[in-house]
Amino acid sequence: MTLLIVGATGTLGRQIARRAIDEGYKVRCLVRSPKKAAFLKEWGAELVKGDLCRPETLTEPLKDITAVIDAATSRPTDALTIRQVDWQGQVSLIQAAKAANIDRFIFFSILDAEKYPNVPLMEIKKCTEIFLAESGLNYTILQLAGFMQGLIGQYGIPILEKQPVWVTGESSPIAYMDTQDIAKFAVRALSVPETEKRSFPLVGTRAWSAEEIISICERLSDREAKITRMPLGLLRTVQNSLRFFQWGWNVADRLAFTEVLASGRPLNANMDEVYKVFGLDAQQTTTVEVYLQEYFSRITKKLKEIDYEKNKNKKQKNQKKQRTPFKQTSSESSPESSKINSK
Ligand SMILES: NC(=O)c1ccc[n+]([C@@H]2O[C@H](COP(=O)([O-])OP(=O)(O)OC[C@H]3O[C@@H](n4cnc5c(N)ncnc54)[C@H](OP(=O)(O)O)[C@@H]3O)[C@@H](O)[C@H]2O)c1
Repeated sequence: MTLLIVGATGTLGRQIARRAIDEGYKVRCLVRSPKKAAFLKEWGAELVKGDLCRPETLTEPLKDITAVIDAATSRPTDALTIRQVDWQGQVSLIQAAKAANIDRFIFFSILDAEKYPNVPLMEIKKCTEIFLAESGLNYTILQLAGFMQGLIGQYGIPILEKQPVWVTGESSPIAYMDTQDIAKFAVRALSVPETEKRSFPLVGTRAWSAEEIISICERLSDREAKITRMPLGLLRTVQNSLRFFQWGWNVADRLAFTEVLASGRPLNANMDEVYKVFGLDAQQTTTVEVYLQEYFSRITKKLKEIDYEKNKNKKQKNQKKQRTPFKQTSSESSPESSKINSK
């Protein structure tokens, strides 16, 4: 079976590529920049150049492919809007996969997308789910809540660096999941016929509020967080004013997502049935505490090593300084230095 992974340079996509290669699948990755994706080639994947927003580049990568795992989404740093990538681009990919007679298409959506029709990314995800289900392809949709990897940039690093941690007025608890665990489910779906033509929630072991995550980070880092609360009203005003400018659409669409994060409604789901269908064990799923514990102990070890190196260098410099009055260095004994010394 040859897989095409789209979005393999991303946070989730790279874990899927790693897992699929480790499980013995032949993996091809559709990438925009082969240079940026060189690490995937080193892991054993084949790279093909393509872009969701250029439909003519999608046919070649799909040749001789059995299944597609699609983890692509627009990058906040890109000039492209979420409509161009997450809607038009995804529609082009689904159509190309249908034309190429692909056996299975795995797509990642967002949990509870149907509950937020006014949030552009949620509406687009829901529409893509419907478009895929009606495409005639054999699909599996996995509806995700949030990635544990995101907690590091949002909370871990600012707390370690004593920078402000931004929190909206009321924060919705989220059942974060490690992308390595999500990858396990995505690859498993390929070999479980009961997952065909179905959608499943895919979330972590429990939902956590921003305050709970901050307090775990404070305990593990032994530092106090500088919490800055952003009123939701202010965010809404910024979002609305940005809509008047075309360059602000993408930013405004992303800011709209704060409505989900600040709704107070937990992003969580019961996973009993999902574990049963996929034949996986809930006990093997990484918890937020274990994930953060591992992160902070890695960082603490690294900081200790840096401190040790710094102290060692300082000691060596001091020892050299102390030696100079008694011992001449080679430069001091050179003809040049003796000239200077004799002046
Ligand atoms: N992050 C979350 O917490 C979260 C929550 C719920 C659902 N999800 C869903 O999970 C999936 C993976 O998200 P992620 O956070 O791992 O994404 P990510 O890290 O932002 O990576 C996005 C990937 O999409 C690729 N891409 C972007 N535009 C493209 C285009 N025009 N053509 C081809 N490839 C393109 C990027 O390639 P380049 O390297 O070339 O930019 C990159 O590989 C997405 O469907 C997302 O909606 C994420």
